[in-house]
Amino acid sequence: MTCNGTFAKGWVRDWLSPAIMAGMNASVPVLTIDGPSGSGKGTVSRLVAARLGWHYLDSGALYRAVGIAAGWSDIDLSDASALVRCAFDTDIAFRDDGSGELRVIVNGTDATDELRTETAGAAASAIAAIPEVRAALKERQRAFRKPPGLVADGRDMGTVIFPDAPYKVFLTASAEERAERRYKQLKEKGVSVTMDSLLREILARDARDASRAVAPLRPASDAVLIDTTGLPVEAVVARVLDLVSRPTA
Ligand code: C5P
Repeated sequence: MTCNGTFAKGWVRDWLSPAIMAGMNASVPVLTIDGPSGSGKGTVSRLVAARLGWHYLDSGALYRAVGIAAGWSDIDLSDASALVRCAFDTDIAFRDDGSGELRVIVNGTDATDELRTETAGAAASAIAAIPEVRAALKERQRAFRKPPGLVADGRDMGTVIFPDAPYKVFLTASAEERAERRYKQLKEKGVSVTMDSLLREILARDARDASRAVAPLRPASDAVLIDTTGLPVEAVVARVLDLVSRPTA
């Protein structure tokens, strides 16, 4: 049994066609927005993509989706080979619900709310440390590069997935501010958490993401660093849009 509840499917087809498409789309512009959790990259990326009329890739959602699909199939987070199969097999689709929010459909089920939980984030971070899982998701991410352009949000968009992107941004913010943003988001959704536990989780996830051997969280050497601590979202969006409007070398 595979991770999408079916028996072995055409993984070669799934892997090969995005690879071919990615090669064909090498000239499509990409803006990569990397950074740690809570740095504002999700909000900023979505707004910038909407203003530019470009596609949007939430790469974290792919890792989260594989993590929860593994959970649904009772796959242990230490079973690397089963997780790799999951990364190939899990059907992940993004749907605009009309309100500007993207719904994430995992194996036919709307998993948007489950994906946003800290449990899904921690599972994603654990499986994201497995090199073969990262490799399995590589071409799937590159297939999002389609005209007229792509805004790609993640941890390794500028370093590994789109190293040739003409525009690269790395967002940071103090851990305290990131925990506070997350606290507000969760509170609005009625989820009860404490600031202390959120700060601890954010610091633990940062440490795991930055210290892993493969694709650790770090800015690309040609990325523009923006510290969003104390900055309103609109100010960050304006700086990023300004970068894209400048002629590239
Ligand atoms: O961005 P988000 O918080 O949804 O990502 C969840 C986890 O997935 C991160 O903590 C990180 O471990 C992993 N991730 C990654 N590479 C990406 C995107 C996410 O390793 N490009």
